[in-house]
Amino acid sequence: MGDLKQAGFNTKAVHAGELKDPRFGNVITPIFENSTFLGPNESPEAYVDNTNGKPFLYTRWGNPTIQSFEEKYAALEGYSRGISFSSGMSAISASILALARPGSRVLTVNGLYGQTYMFLSKTIQKMGISASFIDLDQMNSIDGLEKDISVVYVETVLNPTLGVSDLDHISRICRENDIPLVVDSTFSTPFNIRPVNFGADITLHSATKYIGGHSDIIMGVAGVSDKFYDAVVNMRKNFGFIPDPIQTFLASRGLKTLGLRMKRHNENGMKIARFLEGEKKVKQVHYPGLESSPYHAIANRLMSGYGGMVSFDINGGLDSARRFMRQLKIPDVAPSLGGVESLITLPVETSHASMSREERLKSGITDGLVRFSAGIEDPEDLIEDFQQAFSSV
Ligand SMILES: Cc1ncc(COP(=O)(O)O)c(C=O)c1O
Repeated sequence: MGDLKQAGFNTKAVHAGELKDPRFGNVITPIFENSTFLGPNESPEAYVDNTNGKPFLYTRWGNPTIQSFEEKYAALEGYSRGISFSSGMSAISASILALARPGSRVLTVNGLYGQTYMFLSKTIQKMGISASFIDLDQMNSIDGLEKDISVVYVETVLNPTLGVSDLDHISRICRENDIPLVVDSTFSTPFNIRPVNFGADITLHSATKYIGGHSDIIMGVAGVSDKFYDAVVNMRKNFGFIPDPIQTFLASRGLKTLGLRMKRHNENGMKIARFLEGEKKVKQVHYPGLESSPYHAIANRLMSGYGGMVSFDINGGLDSARRFMRQLKIPDVAPSLGGVESLITLPVETSHASMSREERLKSGITDGLVRFSAGIEDPEDLIEDFQQAFSSV
């Protein structure tokens, strides 16, 4: 495979981590659908499980197909090791539980993905850990951290209001206070930003989204600094959060085209956002690529692309939004995102339905806010479809 350290994004995406065995001459990593392996395996050529430095023994600990995906992902994200999970939520919960001390606080922001909000505001309380939520703008200008904070948790781009975290500033404050920073980079992917370059100790994703890229898996993945690798991987072992090898095989296939897909998602996101900005039935568009976004300057400074997620408020609120979505012919109305097909949803009914209306409004999620995940379709077709749907509102 050679040394890929200096290679470009797409070269790494295709070649990094591939598990080739000259005895078979296989070109891509095979699926090792094995629960267990010979133990002890005394072969001097035994392939080693990164989680413990010994030959593979049991798939809840590690597996060659899973590890191959983790190596590919880590090469793209810029960490020496990656850890995959059965879902984005298991990546989030394992990371927080590995790093947060009982009796301490997680400092985070309003407007997180709804389930993450539930985990931080309710579930971890039972484990003696609390969470404080501040506005993203406060986080972006924070100048110190109190002693009882053991983790800072942010999303690169907030779901669904698309505020952008100033990782450069936040990670500097974390470093000065020796507090780990965990970043959910699901909306951005390593193609648009690599939080490790700003000092993030853990960068994680719902790999269900752009990394898988085809709306056919539920998975998570995290790039973890050496300091925290054992703690996070042990959480995975204890909770049994490892994904199935077939899922990681599909995620690996997804990663190979991540660069190509993200280029198109970024272009389509921008084109749709510009179209919406000029549409008189739209009250407000949220997209960090627009000059009108309060987060444009931060996104410009930190990111190489603005992503495929766009959200907007239609005049007339929830009823108009529902009517508009019913008229669309190309995007499916569905809650996920990041696939090759465009999807559209009302966060109030899906991703943020578990929050109270008051909690949602505090996070800027109005009843009629529509979230659009731009797929890789031809942008003219998407815009034409939006035009005809708006004409019926
Ligand atoms: C930003 C973000 N983080 C995490 C998750 C959770 O991921 P999963 O559904 O794979 O558990 C989601 C799911 O929508 C998300 O949008």
